[in-house]
Amino acid sequence: MNTKVYGHRGCMGTYPENTLVGFMQAIRQGVDGIELDVHMTKDREIVVIHDEFLDRTTDGTGFIKDMTLAEIRRYSAGVRFSHYDQFVDQWRLEQVPTLQEVLVLLKPYSIELNIELKTTKFTYTGIEEAVHQIVQAYGNNRKVIYSSFHLPTLLRMKRMDPNADIALLSKGKLSHPHEYMDCFQLEAIHISKNAILNNVTNWKALLPSLRAWTVNDTNDIKQLLDLRVSAIMTDFPEKAVFYRSERKS
Ligand code: G3P
Ligand code: MG
Repeated sequence: MNTKVYGHRGCMGTYPENTLVGFMQAIRQGVDGIELDVHMTKDREIVVIHDEFLDRTTDGTGFIKDMTLAEIRRYSAGVRFSHYDQFVDQWRLEQVPTLQEVLVLLKPYSIELNIELKTTKFTYTGIEEAVHQIVQAYGNNRKVIYSSFHLPTLLRMKRMDPNADIALLSKGKLSHPHEYMDCFQLEAIHISKNAILNNVTNWKALLPSLRAWTVNDTNDIKQLLDLRVSAIMTDFPEKAVFYRSERKS
């Protein structure tokens, strides 16, 4: 099967990460799927943002867990990306999206969605159920993969919904990775690209079950396409889609 291209945090190489405008841009560039990150607010809303706090990606400050959605919405999720030097006036209007809003935006498009639950620093009690409910209500039956660096999050999700697709995130070498697949009923392992490229032997049998991140370098894209991993996650989806199409022609 052809390797899929996932837009990492939407299209974060050129557009504000984890924003509606960024997700739309990834879709325009021809992605098969989108990767995004979620946290839970003080009033238990699920918001799409990478960090535990607002400071890096918005003009606000504070932890997501200590703020209500309404408080978070006062800030711009686009203005800090003005160094990309385009559309900054429009981007100023971008807010931190809710997961529900992203699913509504994706409704007309048959693309896959990888929801990364960011539960390593704060466990956000009940986040798995909240995320799952939103996906059930607004997911439009699309393929959704729940991923996390925090294995208990994935196991809670699987216990709640045995049909849920769960993927373990890993930064490095996992010994005997097929044991993780079997023991935890993983749909995939989401592994840093260097872990694969530096030790292909360790991963050979599992390549069709690997999504590699974050693959931006042209040579890395080409190598991982050659290895036929399940998907590559990239900040520059247009580039990955281009190299994939070149190989077919
Ligand atoms: O899901 C792959 C990748 O997004 C994990 O790292 O820090 O970009 O969320 P991070
Ligand atoms: Mg992520």
